[in-house]
Formats: sequence, C-alpha cells, structure tokens
Amino acid sequence: MNEAEIKEIIAHYYPAENMFSLKQLGNRLIIEFRDIAENTEKSERLKNELFKLTNKKINLIFSSEKTVNISTQAIEKWQISGIKQIIGVASGKGGVGKSTTAVNLALALFNAGKKVALLDADIYGPSIPTMLGYEGMPMSSADGVHFEPFKSYGISSVSIGSLIDRDTPLIWRGVKAAGALEQLACQTNWGDAEVLVIDMPPGTGDIQITLSQRIDFTGIVIVSTPQDIALIDAVKGINMFEKTGTKILGIIENMSYFICPHCGEKAEIFGHNGAKETAEKMGKTFLGAIPLDLEIRQTGDNGTPIVAENPDSPISQAYLAIAEKIIRKIG
Ligand SMILES: Nc1ncnc2c1ncn2[C@@H]1O[C@H](COP(=O)(O)OP(=O)(O)OP(=O)(O)O)[C@@H](O)[C@H]1O
Ligand SMILES: [Mg+2]
Repeated sequence: MNEAEIKEIIAHYYPAENMFSLKQLGNRLIIEFRDIAENTEKSERLKNELFKLTNKKINLIFSSEKTVNISTQAIEKWQISGIKQIIGVASGKGGVGKSTTAVNLALALFNAGKKVALLDADIYGPSIPTMLGYEGMPMSSADGVHFEPFKSYGISSVSIGSLIDRDTPLIWRGVKAAGALEQLACQTNWGDAEVLVIDMPPGTGDIQITLSQRIDFTGIVIVSTPQDIALIDAVKGINMFEKTGTKILGIIENMSYFICPHCGEKAEIFGHNGAKETAEKMGKTFLGAIPLDLEIRQTGDNGTPIVAENPDSPISQAYLAIAEKIIRKIG
C-alpha cells in the first residue's frame, strides 16, 4: 500500500489539511495531525482500518500549533559575540540523556581541538551545573554587565539554572524564559570560544520554537533512545526544527545497548538500532551510538563527566568519533 493510498484513507476520518506528516518507521506508521482535536472513536476506527491494510502498528499524534506562528521569515537572530558555530543538542522527549550527551559532546569537541562553550538552556531541568560540579555556586560578573562563565575541563559554561531558583515552581514560560536565555547567551563573556553547544529544553513547544527561530544554529543534534516512544518524539523534534529552517546535523542513539559487567554479554534494553533506522528513514545522518553504562551515569552525577575523567575509555572514544563526524559536517 503506497503513501497516497494511505493518505486517502486517512482523509475519510480527518481533514487532509490537518495531516502534518506521515512516517513509516520499521513496522510502525506514525501520523501527525495539527490544529485538530482528537476524536477517540474516529481514531480507533482509523487505526483498525490502517492496521488491517498495512499490518503495521499505527500511532496517531495530535499536536496543536495554532497559537504559534512558525515562520522561516527573517526573524532577528540573537547576537552572540565571538561565537562562530552553534550546535543545539535536542530531544523530543525528556530523560533520554540529552544533557549527558551535551556535556560529553562539548568535552569531546574540545579534545578534538575546538574552543568550546556550553549553554544550559533547559529551563525545565537545568543539570549542567551538577554535571560540571558547580551546582549552587553563584555566577559572577567582572563589569556588572557581563556574566563570567564557569570554566571546567577546558570549556566555559553557563546555566539558566543560575538565574532561576531550583525550588521555585517554574511558571516562566515563553517570552520570559526566552528573555532570560537571550541575556545569558548574549551577555556572557565567552572569551575565545568559537563553538557553542546548547543543551536545549526537551519537547517541541513554544520555547523550543522561539529558540530555533532566534538562535542562529549551525545545526541540531537529536538525541534519542532506541525506544519507539522516544523515536516518535524525535521525529516530532526533527519536523519542528526543519519547519523553522534549522538544519539537523544528525541523530545520536543514547542508551543504545548494555554490556553486562559480569558476563560481557550485550543486551539491547531499549530495542535494537531504532535511532539508526529512524535516521535512515528520514534521510538524516546517524552520528553514533552510546551504550547504557554505569560509569556515564556516575561520572555525570558526580560532576566529572566521563570524557574529562577517562578520555581514553572506549565510551569517551565513541563521543570523540561523534564529535569528529560533526566537525567534518560543520567545518
Ligand atoms: N548512556 C548512558 N548510560 C547511563 N546513564 C545515562 C546515560 N545517558 C544518561 N544517563 C543517565 O540518565 C539520567 C538522565 O540523563 P540526562 O539528565 O542527561 O537526560 P536529559 O535528557 O537531559 O533529561 P532531562 O529531560 O531531565 O533534562 C541521568 O542520571 C544520566 O546520568
Ligand atoms: Mg537535561
């Protein structure tokens, strides 16, 4: 059954203009609708009909983008002085290891010879201060105007967590959070850093769209686990960035597999090769796989990331290979 035939069937249930994307991933068909409320009874019937015809698992995603004006028209970009290339690390879903990847990737880019800075823009769960060991330390300013970044293992970094109290319920949204992030990005003394890695907030809401419009990204790295549900969100993330004209550099599969420390056997806890297949299906580069590993978690939680702590380990070398792939892409 081809795509046109599938679309024709969908149109019997929901208006064609509300169907935003149709993707086939392995044995799964993911259909995203925009600006329309789900009718569960209709959805069930649609899923049944499509399942009978395609024998694939059917996922229907309903997202409303009505209030947000996604536009690729000239929106003024933030002026981040001295920075030549900006790499966003993003995920459609929280908890997939986006921050762990951002930190270790920044350190690997440094080990590959780049002058690197890191901006923690995750307004929902800023974790870079913990991962780099400066949690709870206040930011300083030499001139009363510019923030001085923290320096760890050769890279400079700042976190939105320094501007918002951890225990304050995060009622900041949209414009307010974007304003604080703009200040952080544009008023930090980045020194001689040339490449800025940004740990993005997870998801595809207003704040992510605003950031993708305002920041002059060289490209975005998407982090996903091999799991179906994370991949569906990764697809949403890729679609959002592309709609705002932001380039996708590729996909990293995190928690790809687990090597048992006792017997050495490889276990694919979250499935096999999901992110790689998604990358191929979507015509994106697969940047590499990082295993689920105790040392990654321990070093991350202790403020001594694995790439800094143990740069010769096979896992650090995997991060380095990803960094080198990215450098080849962005020059
Ligand atoms: N490859 C890995 N192996 C083992 N543990 C990992 C790995 N990647 C991440 N973790 C651990 O999983 C937890 C979540 O990771 P992390 O905070 O990087 O995810 P995130 O996507 O940034 O989450 P959030 O959406 O909450 O910001 C952390 O405790 C981290 O140490
Ligand atoms: Mg995080």
